[in-house]
Formats: sequence, C-alpha cells, structure tokens
Amino acid sequence: MVVPEDLVTGGATAAAPVVAPMRRRHLRGVLAIEQEANPRPWSHRLFAGELRMPTSRLYLVALQDHEVVGYAGLMTTLDEGHITNIAVHRDHRRRHLATMLMLVMMRRAVERGVVDMTLEVRMSNTAAQEMYRRFGFAPGGVRKGYYQDSGEDALIMWAHGIDSVDQAERLDALSAALPATFVDRTEGVDPLADARDDADAADDGTTDTETD
Ligand SMILES: CC(C)(COP(=O)(O)OP(=O)(O)OC[C@H]1O[C@@H](n2cnc3c(N)ncnc32)[C@H](O)[C@@H]1OP(=O)(O)O)[C@@H](O)C(=O)NCCC(=O)NCCS
Repeated sequence: MVVPEDLVTGGATAAAPVVAPMRRRHLRGVLAIEQEANPRPWSHRLFAGELRMPTSRLYLVALQDHEVVGYAGLMTTLDEGHITNIAVHRDHRRRHLATMLMLVMMRRAVERGVVDMTLEVRMSNTAAQEMYRRFGFAPGGVRKGYYQDSGEDALIMWAHGIDSVDQAERLDALSAALPATFVDRTEGVDPLADARDDADAADDGTTDTETD
C-alpha cells in the first residue's frame, strides 16, 4: 500500500501511523513501553539479541509522528511462527495500532513460508485474546503456571493455515475496516540487508539515540 505519510483530514494535517522494521535505534522507545506493558519486561540486551537473528525473527514497530508507540515480534521455525511479544503504549491503545502490527506481521510471515502461528497469552488478558480471535487464532491448550511473576496460566492460541485464501480475505477485511490508513514500510524490505545496515549503524555509534 502506498499512501502519503501526511494525510489532510478536515483541513488539519494528521500523520498516518507507520509500521516499520524494528531497528536498534527504536529500542529506547520500545523499552519505555515494555517497562509499563509487561510484568516481566524484556531487557535491551534481549531485544538487541532478537534483532541480530533476522532470518528467524521479525520485529516491527508502530510509529506515530516518528515516536515508537507499539511493537510486535515473531520467531519462525520452518513453517511455524510464534508471536513473542506485542504491546502498544498505554496512551495510544484502542487506535488499532496492534491491529496494524498484526496485519503486517501475518502478511510478512506468509511471505516467509509460515503456515501455522501460535502464541501464549495470560488467561486474564481478554483484551489481547479478543484481538487474536479477530485474526483467526483459537484456543489450543493451557500452560499451567506459565507466568513466573504471578503463577498465572497461559492460554495457547493457534491460527492454522495462515497462507490460505480464507485467511488472506480475513486480513483484507480487517484492513478495509480500519478507520484510517497506515503506511507499511516493510514491503519489499530485505530483512538481512536491513539487519546489516542496522549493525553498521550500531558500530559507528549512531544507534539507540534516534526515534525514527
Ligand atoms: C493488547 C494490546 C496490544 C492491544 O493493542 P491496541 O492497539 O489497543 O489494540 P487495537 O486497537 O488494535 O484493538 C483491536 C481489537 O482488540 C480488542 N481489544 C483491544 N483492547 C481491548 C480492551 N481493552 N478491551 C476489550 N477488547 C479489546 C478489540 O476487539 C479491538 O477492536 P475494537 O477496538 O474495534 O473493538 C494492548 O492492549 C497492550 O499493549 N496491552 C499490554 C500488553 C499485552 O497485553 N500484550 C499482549 C501479550 S499476549
């Protein structure tokens, strides 16, 4: 999808949200959200390690006015994808940012040969479960006491056959139902080249200080 990044709406200029590959320079913004959203927050080291594995990982950020407002991560093994993390800044929730991240993540996952996708979600996290249901995920089991911070059980959810026509139509319908458009900066990006550029930026000291 190619849309202008600044859309004129009702006389005022509003920036369209952007979904882009996560890079090291986004980590400061990512960690600020992670601290608030995840009872057991990931460290900078953990995120940076994930970004060093571009062949088996797919990490995205949602940007609003060049600030990180959300992120999502996927680990792939052969034809299986595992959502590792997803969160949106508290002040930006219910604005479909997670929906945009999921749309892009599932489309890119299919391009990488993923057929089945899974995730764990806290039993009490009905908001996230509702969102996943919209994307075709259904409960597939329980991991007892999975979350070490509280001992809460995890609900395992699966979306099978995400490469099917039905699933593509589901994503198209979710995309069409969005009240506003967004810019997808992941289309046509070579993840290996992108990760190499990112590592080069880290080497010359320009990383982790900018937001976009
Ligand atoms: C779960 C989370 C990522 C959703 O982000 P978001 O950008 O607010 O989600 P969206 O606006 O795209 O919502 C998509 C749909 O999910 C459901 N949903 C999202 N938040 C909800 C809530 N608080 N209550 C009920 N349903 C909710 C709704 O069906 C919603 O569609 P609608 O707004 O048209 O009704 C966000 O609440 C978050 O960061 N939570 C903390 C971290 C977390 O729980 N991550 C998931 C770990 S498995």
